[in-house]
Amino acid sequence: MNTRTDQPQSQLLSQPTVTTAPGKVILFGEHAVVYNRPAIAVPVTDVRATATISPGEPGSGIWILAADLPAPDGEPGGHRYRLRDAPADDPLRASVELALDAFRHGESARDLLIAVTSTIPIARGMGSGAAVATAVVRAIGRHSGHDAQPEKISSLVYEVEKLHHGTPSGIDNTVVAYAQPVFFVRGRGITRLSVGAPLNLVIGDTGVVSSTREVVGDVRRRWSADTEGYEGVFDQIGALARQAKSVIERGYPKDVGRLMDENHELLITLGVSSPELDKLVEAAKTAGALGAKMSGAGWGGNMLALVEAERTPTMAGALQAAGAVSTIFSRIS
Ligand code: PMV
Repeated sequence: MNTRTDQPQSQLLSQPTVTTAPGKVILFGEHAVVYNRPAIAVPVTDVRATATISPGEPGSGIWILAADLPAPDGEPGGHRYRLRDAPADDPLRASVELALDAFRHGESARDLLIAVTSTIPIARGMGSGAAVATAVVRAIGRHSGHDAQPEKISSLVYEVEKLHHGTPSGIDNTVVAYAQPVFFVRGRGITRLSVGAPLNLVIGDTGVVSSTREVVGDVRRRWSADTEGYEGVFDQIGALARQAKSVIERGYPKDVGRLMDENHELLITLGVSSPELDKLVEAAKTAGALGAKMSGAGWGGNMLALVEAERTPTMAGALQAAGAVSTIFSRIS
């Protein structure tokens, strides 16, 4: 298939535009990042969202083909629908409309078929929503003749993230749009993180779907009831993220692992882990992980085991034996 990815945009309006965006995991600092402490997130390039824009029939309007994403009415994937028939807060509709406005996509070119696919597990803390929105926004930018900078893409995707999460910290849209390891403090932009020695992660999926909005809302309620106590835990998590930045940059995976263990304990204290997550974390340690922790909002979703490269297959087996429904290997460098 001809694509427009590496050709001058203005000449190619009749050809498909294809863009992708990676998944992500949070290595340190989830939840505390909502309360302005630093966090570290890395892209997971082994799973991706892809958006393909093709010209539609004249007068057809904009159609979405979401092959493996839930439809606006919650039905499982495989749906084709007209954009204007979707609810206004449908994240795909919001992504498309924000991008059309931002990139001043011509009215005359608004007969489009936008196909979206994704291999990123949904509602498991791997940034599926941010990745889909990033791929769509980037595709519309390119289709309009703009190769937008990650900062612009990230800020548009942040608006879409608000529909999913209510009060997102902005870490998901940032790491996914930049597709680089980031040290992130809310409202202060990003610091790109250089990784001194590769980090071999085995990501274990509990198979339990959880809602980031609900978990973040629950933490907010408990924080309101005991602000001092929770602020103290957030401070400790923030301190771990700062130490982690230093040992990641200097290339000390064993120290990174130790800090992951400590971060997991603090996430248990925050009340966002779950028996399934704790079981996988314990299994990872028994199987020789350098460190292990839950990742993302919690109550389900994924955990991470940091391992020496040669232990990767053993670790995947150990996590599956302890109940992981799937494992993904990702080497961060
Ligand atoms: O989208 P998730 O599940 O990776 O969670 C996002 C991380 C939180 O810190 C819990 C929320 C946020 O907005 O940063």
